[in-house]
Amino acid sequence: MGSSSSPFKADVLKGKVALVTGGGSGIGFEISTQLGSHGAAVAIMGRRRRVLDDAVADLRSKGIMAIGLEGDVRKKDDAAKALETTVKHFGKLDILVNGAAGNFLVSPEDLSPNGFRTVLDIDSVGTYTMCHEALKYLKKGGIGNDSSTGGLIVNISATLHYTAAWYQIHVSAAKAAVDSITRSLALEWGTDYEIRVNGIAPGPIGDTPGMRKLVPEEANNKTREYMPLYKLGERWDIAMAALYLASDAGKYVNGHTMVVDGGLWLSRPRHIPKEDVKALSRAVESKSRSVGLPSSKL
Ligand code: COA
Repeated sequence: MGSSSSPFKADVLKGKVALVTGGGSGIGFEISTQLGSHGAAVAIMGRRRRVLDDAVADLRSKGIMAIGLEGDVRKKDDAAKALETTVKHFGKLDILVNGAAGNFLVSPEDLSPNGFRTVLDIDSVGTYTMCHEALKYLKKGGIGNDSSTGGLIVNISATLHYTAAWYQIHVSAAKAAVDSITRSLALEWGTDYEIRVNGIAPGPIGDTPGMRKLVPEEANNKTREYMPLYKLGERWDIAMAALYLASDAGKYVNGHTMVVDGGLWLSRPRHIPKEDVKALSRAVESKSRSVGLPSSKL
């Protein structure tokens, strides 16, 4: 299935309102597009007016109700204002997607504490700030909430911190905090306000600012060889995970960060080609059978 078609019904989010931070480009823009194409009105928040204007024009050309809100998730007042404007414009808020993130490659030796803090401020504190400011709208019985339940938060994470990644100490720490926020809020706000809080951890996704910024072009092509499914993810794959969580299909999923990386986080570099391992296995097994020994005795 390609990026133009969706297995979800076109009206699966009819009447819903979403706010997507970092929604003007990359994965955030695709999530905005897919939420909108499935019936939601979408507010996108970002720092760059021109990017927002282009993105809103694109969304509207697809028949999606969309507005662009300039703001920085590091600033509490910007967060509060973006949420307030969304609710003023569309009447309520059902879905908050925290997609805004900062990243650059740098070794720990060359990363100043302020550089480290900058990424934590955007990814971790920014995500928390948006959640905190959104509570009064998302909670069951909250401002504008006409639903029988609370809303949904989706935090965009990563898989780097499951192990470790070169030149990514700041982002790994930031995303570990994001996952922890997802679990804590799922427990606390699920219980108290019927808000579901989940995450999505994308692997390498083609045609994104992240891939352009973090992976050189030659290596980008080679990346496919190291992927368990021998292909990069598409922005569409992440947007479909968001749709699943936002639709009734995900109504019992709370506190989960869904890995959408084709299985990459489970894998290690293929030091030996898989075919060679297979050939060796066959050779060892046939030898053990010929001398009548169980292979564990070899
Ligand atoms: N290497 C090392 N340190 C860096 C750096 C780099 N490439 N880029 C920024 N920093 C450090 C700065 O040196 C500074 O620390 P210092 O005061 O000790 O010198 C600190 O980070 C803040 O830098 P500044 O440029 O003021 O931050 P900003 O708020 O303007 O920008 C960033 C935020 C740094 C995350 C920027 O890369 C950005 O906005 N990127 C766009 C969004 C993005 O990256 N999206 C993710 C795609 S995967």
